[in-house]
Parts: sequence; structure tokens; C-alpha cells
Amino acid sequence: MHDVAAIVLAAGKGTRMRSSTAKVLHPLLGRPLLAYPLDACRRAGVDRVVAVVGHQADEVRRSLGAEGIEFALQAEQRGTGHAVLCAREALEGFAGTALILCGDVPLIRPETLRRLVATHRDAGARITVLTMEPDDPTGYGRLVRDADGWVERIVEEADATDEEKAIREVNTGTYAVELPWLWQALARVGSDNAQGEVYLTDAVALAAGEGAAAAVALPDPMEALGVNSRVHLAEASRELRHRINRAWMEAGVTLEDPATAWIEPGVELEPDVTLGPGVRLAGATRVAAGTRIDTGCVLVDTEVGPDCHLKPYCVLTEARLEAGAQVGPFAHLRPGAVVGPQARVGNFVEMKKAVLGRGSKANHLTYLGDATVGQGANIGAGTITCNYDGVNKHPTVIGDGAFIGSNTSLVAPVRVGDGAVVGAGSTITKDVPSGALGVARGKQRNVEGWSDRKPGKG
Ligand code: UD1
Ligand code: CA
Repeated sequence: MHDVAAIVLAAGKGTRMRSSTAKVLHPLLGRPLLAYPLDACRRAGVDRVVAVVGHQADEVRRSLGAEGIEFALQAEQRGTGHAVLCAREALEGFAGTALILCGDVPLIRPETLRRLVATHRDAGARITVLTMEPDDPTGYGRLVRDADGWVERIVEEADATDEEKAIREVNTGTYAVELPWLWQALARVGSDNAQGEVYLTDAVALAAGEGAAAAVALPDPMEALGVNSRVHLAEASRELRHRINRAWMEAGVTLEDPATAWIEPGVELEPDVTLGPGVRLAGATRVAAGTRIDTGCVLVDTEVGPDCHLKPYCVLTEARLEAGAQVGPFAHLRPGAVVGPQARVGNFVEMKKAVLGRGSKANHLTYLGDATVGQGANIGAGTITCNYDGVNKHPTVIGDGAFIGSNTSLVAPVRVGDGAVVGAGSTITKDVPSGALGVARGKQRNVEGWSDRKPGKG
């Protein structure tokens, strides 16, 4: 498909979204809606894609600029035919087959696009329409065929007679066309219709007049689901998750509740990963074999090694877990958190830019920020690295085999050497040498018989 171009129409406002954000920028499983048809084109092997943008054009360009596509501007939305004409300059000199897709149709499969192009070329057509028969054809353009079943034209709902409205075969809004033929055809199409727009669909009648219009049926109408409202967006999300989840199960991943597992398209999982109900894996998250992620965990751009266990309700962003690490429940791992092999992070522990070495433990109520902890160290309950002085961040370094007693504040910059021990309740402001005991807390004083001498006591 290397000699095929694509035009993706994405200039519309999407009024029914009732949003200040352009429709094609609404996220579907973490990516803008428009990214999906662009991706389908790419995966179908299309090498030139022009997106026609208009409403919030700058924002759309900015969010999709990295997708390796070209943009054309439709400053005023004067219909689908006019939108396609706006791509003419970008495709000047291109002669051959072009796909036309809608930017708000995210579930279209690359195989469908390939089949559309193949049928179009076999038929020697100038325009081939992808059609479907939804349960309810209301709102769609109807495909009118002649007595012999040949494609004749498309009539829009607003312009259709009652008899035409009864036709069940409708236009999905996806086409294969020949360029430059279409440019000339659209130049002949007027806007004398109920909506006063230049209809792309009117090019079908012109091709039919030349015996060069065809149609390809799409068996699964879900693929052509157009997102016009937030209800449609949720439907598309459910369908997309269903597809993704199914593919992962077939690849050897256990989803304890596929209905609530949320796995974004950029995620990679190895076989024998198990995901509990309500797990959300976002961005470029990767999870290696044998790892279990329990209920309610949220992982964004996080890398998890093999045989790890994330207990329920952990939140991880740009973090890394190495083989056999255990985390949670209720842990918060922020960017730069690294839990080493066999290391353990327990409940109500927060880490940021902090490395916990092999086999080390921070099991309860701890904050490790800008910290490096060696191997086999124990970080007691309630340990806090005081890494921020209000202006700058400072590092804490804790050596191999060190033992930090409970309720310790480590005022950074500070180092605790290998094998050193810090007494519980200490506020450590100076380095503790290797092998030493550091204690920094008020001395205890007991006042004998104090209760009996309290005021008010007889
Ligand atoms: C269009 C088709 C209809 C088909 C339906 C499928 C026409 C005239 N009608 O209907 O036969 O059944 O799609 O969903 O083509 N757009 C622009 N600029 C414009 C107008 C639209 O970029 O000036 C874009 C929209 O952003 C959208 C796509 O084109 O992505 C389709 O536009 P929309 O208004 O939804 O199409 P309909 O008129 O409903
Ligand atoms: Ca319209």
C-alpha cells in the first residue's frame, strides 16, 4: 500500500460533545481520538497522511504533530467535500489511490482499509464507498443502487425522501478514491442541498455516471462508530478495551475482570501477568512475566520486572520495579522511584527519585525522596527524608545493610554508612559513619511519683 495516500477529515467542531476541547482531541484510552484513524492508516501501510484540521487547528497540530503526518487547514467548515478539497494543495502532484477517513471514527481496522483499497482497484473504480447496515440507519447518508444493484448515488438524511430513508445500507464516511479525478469531480459539485454544504458524497453520483462507482460492505458496524457525543466516546472506549483485553488474554495474560481492566494501547505485557479487577495500565507501561498486579493499581509509564507483586491500590508514575519486588498496598511511587530486586515497599510509603537496593525494605509509612538506599537495608516505620529546604532538594544516601530506626528524620544532605544503625526517633543532621550508631533525640527523664503529686489529686 505504499502508493496510497490518506486524507483524514478532522475540522469539525463536534457540537454534541458540549466541550471547549475540539472533538478529535478528546482522549480515548489515553490518546486523542484522531490518533486512532491515523494509526489505522499507518498500520495499513499508507505512507502519506494529510489531516484536514479547522476547529482548534493549532491545538490539534500541537497534539498530533509527532505522528509524522501533514496538516491542511479548512478555515471554515463548508462540508465534507470542501474539507477534502482543502487537502488538494498538500497532495498536489499525487496521482493514484487515496483513502478518505473521518477523524472521529476510531475503531476502523487496518485490514478493512486494505480490503477497501484492494476492492477499489480490482473494480477499476474512481470512488469506492465503505458501507454498512446498522440496526438504525437514522442520520447516515443512504446508498442508492439502481435496479441492477449498481451504486448510483448517496443521499443525505436531510435530503432523503421517505422511500430513500427506508434504505438500510448506509455510508460509513470511509472511501477509496482516485486522484486527481476527485479534485475535478468536487469542483463540479455544488452546495445546493438541505445543509448548503459541499457534499463529498455527491462525487459518488459523478463516478457512477462514468460507470466507476463501487461499494464495499463492512460486516461489523462497530468499526465505523462515529464519536459525536460523550456517550459514543464511552461506547468506543468499551469496544476498544474489549479488543485490547481480548488480545492480551489470548497472549497469555490473566484478567480477573476483563470488564474493568484498563490497558492503554501503548502498554506491553508478557505472558503469565495477572491483573486484578480495576487495574489501570497507562502510557508506555511494561510488565514482565509472572507479575501480579492487584485491584485498583494505577501504573503510568512504569516498568515492572518479572515475578513482582503489586498489592491493591498502588499508584506508580514513571517508576521501575526490578525482579521479585513487592509493593503496597497503598504505596505511591513517583517519577524516578526504583525498587530493586526482591526489595519491599509496604503500605503508605511514598518514593520520588529514590532507589531502594536489592532486598532492602521500607515497609511502613515512609517518605523517600532524592534518596539512594543500598542493598539489604531496613528503613523503619515513619522514616522521612527531609529532602527539601524550601528552595533546593538535597540527597540522602543510605549504605548497604544499614538499619534506620522507626520515626527517624534524615535531614538532607546526609549519609548513613554501610552497616550503620540509627536509633529510633532520631533527627539525623550529620553523616553517620559505616558501622556506627547514630542517635539524635532528647534524653528520657522519669519523674518518680509524678501522678500522685498532680494538682487536683488529694
Ligand atoms: C457524513 C456523510 C454521510 C455519512 C456520515 C458517516 C457527507 C455529506 N455525509 O455525514 O453520508 O453517512 O458522514 O458518519 O459527507 N468535516 C470537516 N469539515 C466539514 C465537515 C465535516 O472536516 O466542513 C469532518 C468532520 O469533522 C467529521 C467528518 O468530516 O470528522 C464527517 O462530518 P460529519 O458532519 O460528522 O458528517 P455527516 O454530515 O454527519
Ligand atoms: Ca454535517
